[in-house]
Amino acid sequence: MSITPKNVYCFISGKNWKLSLAELTSYFDARACSFEVSEFCRSFFIIKTQTPLDWSIIDELGGTLKIVEATAFVPTEHVVDAFIKEDKAAKRQLKFDFPLDVVAEGMSRADSGKSVFGVSVYWADPEFRHAARLAQRYIGSAMKDELKEQDKKARFMGFPKDRDNPQLTAVEVIKQNLVENRAEVVVCIGKTQTALGVTAAVHDPFEFQKRDVEKPVQRKMFAIPPRLSKIMINLTWCTPGKTFLDPFCGVGTILQEALLSKATVIGLDINRWCVDAAKRNLDWIAYEYSLQDAQFTVVQGDVRDMPPKIHRGIDCIATEPDLGPALRELPTVEYAQEIIDHLNPLFEGFLSESFQVLREGGRLAVVTPYIKVRLGKPVRMEVQRMAENVGFTTITPFSETAFVESAEDFPLRDMTAFVEVDERHMVGREISVFQKPT
Ligand SMILES: C[S@@+](CC[C@H](N)C(=O)[O-])C[C@H]1O[C@@H](n2cnc3c(N)ncnc32)[C@H](O)[C@@H]1O
Repeated sequence: MSITPKNVYCFISGKNWKLSLAELTSYFDARACSFEVSEFCRSFFIIKTQTPLDWSIIDELGGTLKIVEATAFVPTEHVVDAFIKEDKAAKRQLKFDFPLDVVAEGMSRADSGKSVFGVSVYWADPEFRHAARLAQRYIGSAMKDELKEQDKKARFMGFPKDRDNPQLTAVEVIKQNLVENRAEVVVCIGKTQTALGVTAAVHDPFEFQKRDVEKPVQRKMFAIPPRLSKIMINLTWCTPGKTFLDPFCGVGTILQEALLSKATVIGLDINRWCVDAAKRNLDWIAYEYSLQDAQFTVVQGDVRDMPPKIHRGIDCIATEPDLGPALRELPTVEYAQEIIDHLNPLFEGFLSESFQVLREGGRLAVVTPYIKVRLGKPVRMEVQRMAENVGFTTITPFSETAFVESAEDFPLRDMTAFVEVDERHMVGREISVFQKPT
C-alpha cells in the first residue's frame, strides 16, 4: 500500500549534492522552518516540512534543480522486485500503489491533444541505474494508458539516444511548460523508500545566465558563478532585511544575489574600478528585477583595515577573496604551499576585521583556495584554525536532529568544508562557514 504524504518534497540536487543539502538545511534553519530529511543521496533529498512550501523558493536556492511534490511512497524493495527481479506481479502492483490516475487528472492541457508529459527517474544506489530506465518507460506507458482512460491526450516525451540518465533537464521542463501543466512525473528511488511525485518548481538556468553574462560590467577571469554565490548567501542565514557584506566584492556577483535576497547590501574592494563596476551592476539588477526598495553601498578600501563606513552589526558576510595566481599547469606541492603562505596574511587580516564588524551570532561564508598538485593531495589553507584563532566558531551545517536516520555513523556529522572543483581547473574552491559566538 502506498502512503499519501503531506508536505513531503523531493529536492533534486545540483552537481555538488552536499553543498546543495547544506544550503537547503541552512535555508530552512534561517527561517525557523521545521523540517525532517528522511532520505538523502547524491541526486535527491526527501524532506518533510511543517508547513507547505511556496514554490517561489526555487529562485532563492542555488543548488536545487527541481522541487517535486511527492504524492505516494512505496518501499524500494517493491521497485527492486519489479525492475531488477523483473517480477510481473510486482510491476502490476506498482500501478496500483502509484496513483497515476490522480497524476493524470491533475495534468492540465492534456485534453487539447497538443501537450506533452515526461517521466524522470532518479536513484540513490548505482545498482538501480538499469532499473531506473525500465521504470521510466514503464511509468510513461502506464501514464499513457491512464490518460486514454480519462479521454485525455498527451505525447510521452522521449530522450535523445545518448542521454545517460532517464531525466529531463531543467531547460526541457521549462521549454515544454511541464511545471505549469503538472506534466513531469518524477520517481526517486531511495535506499529504503521510493517516492512518486510531480514537479512543482524548476530552477531557471536562463535567469542565472542572464545575471552572469548580461550584467553591464563583466570580469570573467575572477567571477564566481551566481549559483554558487546564492548558495554561500544561504549558508550565512541571510534573510530579507539583514545587513550583508562582501568585503572582496569585485564586480559584485555575490552582492547582486544578496540584493535579490532583499538584504541591505554593502560591498568593499580595494580597486576603484571594481567599486564602480559593482555599483553599475547593482543598479542594473535593481532595475531588471524591479527591486524598488533596494539598498546598497559599495566602498573602496582595504579589508585589513575596514573603513569607518562599514559599521559594526553586520549580520552576514559571504565572500571570495583573492585565490592566488592563475595557474597554467599543476604546481609542485612546494609552489602550491608558497602560494598559500603568501595569501595567509591577507586572510588573517580579513578574518580578524570581519570578526570586529559582525554582530554576535552573525555568520561568515568564505572561499579558500584548494590547489591541485602534480603529485599527492591538494594543498589547502588552514582557514578553520585561522578563524578559530580570532574567535569564530566553525559551523557544521548538518544538524543531526533534522535527519530521520541520524545513526551513530551519521556520515555528514563532522562536515565543515565543501569543495567545489572543476576537472579542468587547477585551483578549486573550498567553502567554510563560521559564526561569531553569541
Ligand atoms: C576573486 S575577486 C572577487 C570576485 C567577485 N566575487 C566577483 O564576482 O567579481 C577578489 C577581489 O578582491 C579584491 N581585493 C584584493 N585585495 C583586497 C583587499 N586587501 N581589500 C579589499 N579588496 C581586495 C580584488 O580587487 C578583487 O576584486
